[in-house]
Amino acid sequence: MLVRKLQLIGFRNYIEAAISFDASKTIIIGNNAQGKTNLLEAIQVLTSYKSRRATKDIELINFELNEAVLRAEISKETDLSFNQISMLIRPSGRRTLKVNDVNKKAKELSLDFASVSFMVDDLEIINGSPSGRRNFLDNLLAKLFYSYADDLDAFEDILLQRNSYLKSLQEKNIYHINQLQDRVQLSIWDQMFVDKANRVSRHRSQLIKQLEPVMKNYYQRISNQNHDFELIYQGAQISQNDLDLVINKDLARGITNIGPQRDDIEFRLKYKDAASYASQGEKRSLALALKLAELELLKDKFSEYPILLLDDVLAELDEDRQDLLLECIEGDIQVIISTTHLGKHLEKWSRGAQILTVNNGVIAKLDEAKI
Ligand SMILES: Nc1ncnc2c1ncn2[C@@H]1O[C@H](COP(=O)(O)OP(=O)(O)O)[C@@H](O)[C@H]1O
Ligand SMILES: [Mg+2]
Repeated sequence: MLVRKLQLIGFRNYIEAAISFDASKTIIIGNNAQGKTNLLEAIQVLTSYKSRRATKDIELINFELNEAVLRAEISKETDLSFNQISMLIRPSGRRTLKVNDVNKKAKELSLDFASVSFMVDDLEIINGSPSGRRNFLDNLLAKLFYSYADDLDAFEDILLQRNSYLKSLQEKNIYHINQLQDRVQLSIWDQMFVDKANRVSRHRSQLIKQLEPVMKNYYQRISNQNHDFELIYQGAQISQNDLDLVINKDLARGITNIGPQRDDIEFRLKYKDAASYASQGEKRSLALALKLAELELLKDKFSEYPILLLDDVLAELDEDRQDLLLECIEGDIQVIISTTHLGKHLEKWSRGAQILTVNNGVIAKLDEAKI
C-alpha cells in the first residue's frame, strides 16, 4: 500500500497543508508539539478509520474551525491505480467518506486500506495496563475482521446495560441473589452477555494463537537467543453457570466481574511472566516483536504491506534494536518516520529518503543543502 498525496484541512493543528510522498521512505523532522504525530494520525485515520489517540472526532478538528477534511491518494498493489479518498470529519462524529467520488461507509475503509502505527507508548505495552493490551487486540481484530468492531460495540453495550441493571438492584437494597424475586430481567441480560462476550473472546483467543509463532520468531531474531516464549490468553469462554457463580459478588459491587472486559495477554519468557521478571531491554524487544507480528498478520491479510508509521519511536530504541527494526522493514513497504532530529540512527536509512520538516502545522521539504 502506498500513500502518494495527502491534504489536511482543519485537521488538528493543520489549517491547510498538502504533501506528496515521493519516495518509499519519508522522514518528518520537527520539534515537539509541531504536528508530527498529528500528521501520522491523519494517515492512520484515513486507512483504519479510528484514531488511536482521539476518543471523539471533535478532537481531530482544529480548535478554530467547524470541520476537518482529509484527502489522500492511496494505491494498492492489486489495482495499481490511485484511489482518491476524501473524508469529512464533523464534531458530531458523523463522517462522510468518498472513495473515487463514490460514497462509502467510513468503517469500510478498513476493508481496503491499512496502516500500522508504532508509537512510544507501544514500547510500554508489556508493563502497561491490561486495557492497553486489550486495545492492541481490538484494533488489530477490527482491521482483520470487518464485523469485529460491531461485535465489540455490541458487547460493550450489553456490559453497560447489565452493570446499570446491577446498580439499579443495589438501589433497591438487593445485594444477594436470594433477595431477588423476579429473575426474568437478569436472565435476559445474562443470556445476551454470554453470547456477546463469547464472540469477543473467541476472536481474541484465536488472534493470540496466530500472533504467538510470528512474535516468537521476531523475538528470537531481535534478542539473538532461543529463549522459550509463549503468548497466553488470560480470558475464557463463559457460560450462564460461570455468571451464576459470581452473581453475589456482582450484586455486591454493582458491576460484572467476569468477561472480556477483564481479558489480558500474558507474555511468558523463559517460563515466567515477562511483566514481572523480564528486564527492561527484554520487554522492549517483546514490544518490538509484537508490532512486527502485527505488521506481518496484516500483510498476510492484504497480500501486501500496510503503510508503516513510526512515531518518534526510533530514538527510544538502542542501536541494535534500531538496526533490526530498520532491517526488518527494508523492502516493499512504505515507511514514514517522525523524529525530533536526524540523529545517527537515521543516517544510514535516510539515504534515498524524502525529508520533510514540520513547524507549527506547516510542512516543507528540507532544503538539500541543510542535510
Ligand atoms: N484539535 C486541535 N486543534 C488545534 N491544535 C491541536 C488540536 N489537537 C492538538 N493540537 C495541537 O497540536 C500540537 C502538536 O501535536 P503533535 O502532532 O502531537 O506534536 P508532535 O510534533 O510533538 O508530535 C499540540 O501543541 C496540540 O496542542
Ligand atoms: Mg508526537
